Amino acid sequence: MAPYYDGLVAFLFRQLFYTIPAVAPVDLHGKAVLLTGANSGIGLSLAMILASQGAEVVTAVRSLARGEAARQEILRGVPTARIEVRECDLASFNSVKSFVGQLKDDSKSFDLVILNAGVWCSQWMASGDGFDLSLQVNVLSNALLALSLLPRLRYQSGPPRIVFVTSEGHAMVPTPFARQGSMLDSFNQKAQPFNHYKHYYTSKLFELLWAQAMSRRVDAGKLSICSVSPGLCKSELFRNPRVSSFASSREGVLCQERLWKEIVGILDSVDPGLESHLNLVN
Ligand SMILES: NC(=O)c1ccc[n+]([C@@H]2O[C@H](COP(=O)([O-])OP(=O)(O)OC[C@H]3O[C@@H](n4cnc5c(N)ncnc54)[C@H](OP(=O)(O)O)[C@@H]3O)[C@@H](O)[C@H]2O)c1
Repeated sequence: MAPYYDGLVAFLFRQLFYTIPAVAPVDLHGKAVLLTGANSGIGLSLAMILASQGAEVVTAVRSLARGEAARQEILRGVPTARIEVRECDLASFNSVKSFVGQLKDDSKSFDLVILNAGVWCSQWMASGDGFDLSLQVNVLSNALLALSLLPRLRYQSGPPRIVFVTSEGHAMVPTPFARQGSMLDSFNQKAQPFNHYKHYYTSKLFELLWAQAMSRRVDAGKLSICSVSPGLCKSELFRNPRVSSFASSREGVLCQERLWKEIVGILDSVDPGLESHLNLVN
């Protein structure tokens, strides 16, 4: 394995001075690929490239409407693309299980699985299943998919491959969990302030640790497991509006309330009773 240097400076150095190799032309006719998060960003570009090289691509998206819009965009760029859109919400274990169940019912199998979907949360958010959202989407559901899809892989013509799309940021987080009883306790970050960088990068580190642990459990001659870090890419990942650590901290929330009272005091002298308009919306 190539030497890897942790930290922001090393990351920036790689980002600025490493030339990304061109995508090698490969004939993927006859190959079937399952790609999560294919409706935007890296996944959409990947789907386009895979389809242009002849692969049959099954995209797993949480919104069928966004998935279909992406399919149309891909078809405009690659009219011969063979793209199928299926629903799979990584924030719900039931959705993931039913997605895999439908693949089984339809006798689908794959040469390549790319677990690309991921989320960056600007604040602590819970999934419908009650887990931290980043943990469930970036780690738990990818682990669930990676294991549940093993019977759906094509082993006949060489080892199939599962790719985890992780992040170079995994190298930039402190590792106190290494000494904790439960590794997953580090996601119990309801406590303020919420550090969204640390939270996201820790989830990507856990995804990578899982991928490595899984790769040690399989025969590399039968299944290839890899994790890739795309580096900084323009995408929709940072779409969630974020506020500073202070603004989202306990102290910040107290300040929000104090400021509210002071400003309402001034507004009351301008137009008394304005605050009662809130009755219309609460
Ligand atoms: N962009 C970067 O600089 C960068 C750097 C390192 C690693 N990465 C990784 O690259 C991967 C792709 O991210 P991106 O940058 O292309 O961001 P993106 O444009 O936001 O794409 C993320 C994809 O994941 C999907 N997704 C999010 N939550 C989901 C859920 N609950 N169930 C199913 N799909 C879900 C999104 O679907 P919706 O559109 O429906 O939300 C979208 O298709 C992620 O794993 C990210 O961590 C990105």
